[in-house]
Amino acid sequence: MSISGCFVQDCPRVPWSLSHLSPRRERDTDTSKPREIRATMSNVRCLPRIRVRNPLVELDGDEQARVIWHQIKKQLIEPYLDLNIVYFDLGLPVRDATNDGVTLDAARAVQQHRAAVKAATITPDEARVQEFNLKRMYPSPNGTLRNILNGTVFREPILVNNVPRLVPGWQKPIVIARHGFGDQYKAQDVRVPPASRVELCILTADGKEIERREVHRFAAGEHGGGVALAMFNTDESIRNFGKSCFEFALKRKLPMYLSTKNTILKAYDGRWRDIFQELYDRDYKERFAQASLGYEHRLIDDMVAQALKSAGGFLWACKNYDGDVQSDIVAQGYGSLGLMSSVLLTPDGNTLLAEAAHGTVTRHYRLHQQGKETSTNSVASIVAWARGLAHRATLDETPDVLQFAEALERSCIEVIQGGKMTKDLSIAVLGPELGCKRENYLTTEEFIDAVQEQLETHLVSIGQKSPQQRI
Ligand SMILES: NC(=O)c1ccc[n+]([C@@H]2O[C@H](COP(=O)([O-])OP(=O)(O)OC[C@H]3O[C@@H](n4cnc5c(N)ncnc54)[C@H](O)[C@@H]3O)[C@@H](O)[C@H]2O)c1
Repeated sequence: MSISGCFVQDCPRVPWSLSHLSPRRERDTDTSKPREIRATMSNVRCLPRIRVRNPLVELDGDEQARVIWHQIKKQLIEPYLDLNIVYFDLGLPVRDATNDGVTLDAARAVQQHRAAVKAATITPDEARVQEFNLKRMYPSPNGTLRNILNGTVFREPILVNNVPRLVPGWQKPIVIARHGFGDQYKAQDVRVPPASRVELCILTADGKEIERREVHRFAAGEHGGGVALAMFNTDESIRNFGKSCFEFALKRKLPMYLSTKNTILKAYDGRWRDIFQELYDRDYKERFAQASLGYEHRLIDDMVAQALKSAGGFLWACKNYDGDVQSDIVAQGYGSLGLMSSVLLTPDGNTLLAEAAHGTVTRHYRLHQQGKETSTNSVASIVAWARGLAHRATLDETPDVLQFAEALERSCIEVIQGGKMTKDLSIAVLGPELGCKRENYLTTEEFIDAVQEQLETHLVSIGQKSPQQRI
């Protein structure tokens, strides 16, 4: 089900000059014109495209995330890049039609090409099975991709100066790395009847008992019963998690902390502390020192206190459940879910899949389906494209592609700092009453137009500096 190939139309080449662009800007701000006409103008007046040497894998998604994704690609990517996209549609109808085979094909393509971007997808529950008349309840595509790539998810806020933070001290990003294997994900949890005993027993592969420990004796009587839980992790998975974290910290030039509760779970959480320390001492200490970075293990309670009081600016490696909780706290703390990016990185640091941390924004999609105006924040999706391309550029050693990716990300931030933003941010900045007033926010389309305009000013100055790097 994969479609691969160059999706970029040939655009007429035009000389780089600000004056050449100015008429387009005037027309683009005229929102009274139908959207299709304004988009066509943009394509006709496109700039010379930058060649991307190797393919980028694109995984399409569902609902409003899909709507904004297509608009971003059409306005902010295709006109400027000569890019070979290896495309997979992970929208729920195609996952159903292929019995989820498309997700496996997509994961293999990501492994092959090593740089990928993804739009948010629906993870079906019972209601979605009915809504889409699905053959079965497919697993989360993100879970499937993560398991096949054996990667770690890093969530990072996109900082914008004029968006107030719930934690005002957080001036720099806190990146949360969540270990997404074992622990609660693969636990066995049971109800235990009264007057019974729970034991933990370890057997060899052929069934010989190695160790048996009593966990608890439950009392007799109506209230004597309770619950029990058994969970596990593997040295290999913890080690791969550690490698991904150290690689990401070096990539983003951030000091790193691992949090556990090893004072209580001496063997279990102690294993994380020991494996991370071994890895650090053996493979990363020198590289961290060269980059003037440090690594430390902290108790989870100390770490939470330190994080709240800090100015941010570090990578926090979390066990599975801690990461689940902390990534939501951090997302809210920085102002909006629409400003959270997410990156999946393999332990060797070579394969990267970038996406927005938010979901498919179903409520906005219902409005879109009714032909109503929407104001969906596309920043995290645009930044996903920028970070996927930046990784492609690093692998290919193509500085012009890297410059484009950086300009794209910077353009989003500058537009918001210039006072143009979607409703979620307008509410965060101005409060619910003023923020909801139509004159104080842009629609989904107006915001992408504004980013395009800003991007073109950057591309013009980059093009003037290094025209020989363009085709
Ligand atoms: N990475 C992924 O693919 C991913 C992640 C989370 C949820 N999902 C899927 O998304 C669907 C909807 O889930 P949900 O409602 O829990 O999460 P959601 O992130 O789509 O929405 C949560 C809330 O945040 C708001 N919001 C989120 N992103 C926004 C944006 N860019 N601009 C403005 N407002 C925004 C929404 O309006 C909503 O109130 C579900 O089917 C779920 O399976 C996918």
